Amino acid sequence: MPAPELRLVLAVSLDGRLAPPAGGAAQIGGRGDRRVLEEALAWADGCLIGGRTLRLHGTTCLIHQPDLLEQRAQQGKPPQPAAIVVSRSGRFDPQLRFFAQPLQRWLLGPDLRQAPAGFAAALPLQSWREALAVLAGRGLQRLVLLGGAELAGVLLREQLVDELQLTLCPLLLGGQHSWLPAGVTLDSSGWRLEHMRRLEGEELLLRYRCLRG
Ligand SMILES: NC(=O)c1ccc[n+]([C@@H]2O[C@H](COP(=O)([O-])OP(=O)(O)OC[C@H]3O[C@@H](n4cnc5c(N)ncnc54)[C@H](OP(=O)(O)O)[C@@H]3O)[C@@H](O)[C@H]2O)c1
Repeated sequence: MPAPELRLVLAVSLDGRLAPPAGGAAQIGGRGDRRVLEEALAWADGCLIGGRTLRLHGTTCLIHQPDLLEQRAQQGKPPQPAAIVVSRSGRFDPQLRFFAQPLQRWLLGPDLRQAPAGFAAALPLQSWREALAVLAGRGLQRLVLLGGAELAGVLLREQLVDELQLTLCPLLLGGQHSWLPAGVTLDSSGWRLEHMRRLEGEELLLRYRCLRG
């Protein structure tokens, strides 16, 4: 089965943090970032979300911009990409607002036998390469990885991320929450700058493609 295209999408501070020192549900990006985040969602068939990010935020990002919703409708796509939550425990508070959001919810994890309430399906995760191929086989050819850092680190280490879409936000945050966790060892692939755009609010969009292979 073919591998899907995987794009990591994050808003990061100038010092490379994705959350302030206190952690919690981080909102680093402003209006400019919101637009390019929605553009990435409009491109995608599905979004991978780390279990902790979902618990902290309680919801996932939706496309709201009318032109992007119209674009998806014209392409015969559902209004929102499917949300694929990555979790070992598979335990989520059923009261999370996520479960009322208008999208399809899947769960991906190593020890999941059946889908808990609120999820349409539970998919096995034995190897990442196979799991992503299964998603592609189910029609999810374009995936956005919405973080957090732990999940980004796993998929970068596995060399499965094809593109990095970073919004650089004019903040210096300090602290521990780098967008890659400390201790992740990566291959030495280079990245080619594909696109850059100045955004509202002194933000900068950078999109890099992996030069691997
Ligand atoms: N600035 C941004 O753009 C941005 C974007 C996203 C998140 N964030 C911030 O990032 C922080 C959260 O990131 P985080 O690094 O702490 O957590 P995370 O990556 O969102 O989630 C970690 C969780 O993902 C699941 N997981 C990770 N690797 C797995 C694997 N190989 N197999 C199965 N499940 C796996 C586990 O879920 P279970 O615990 O359910 O088992 C794990 O506890 C928050 O502060 C959030 O606001 C910022």
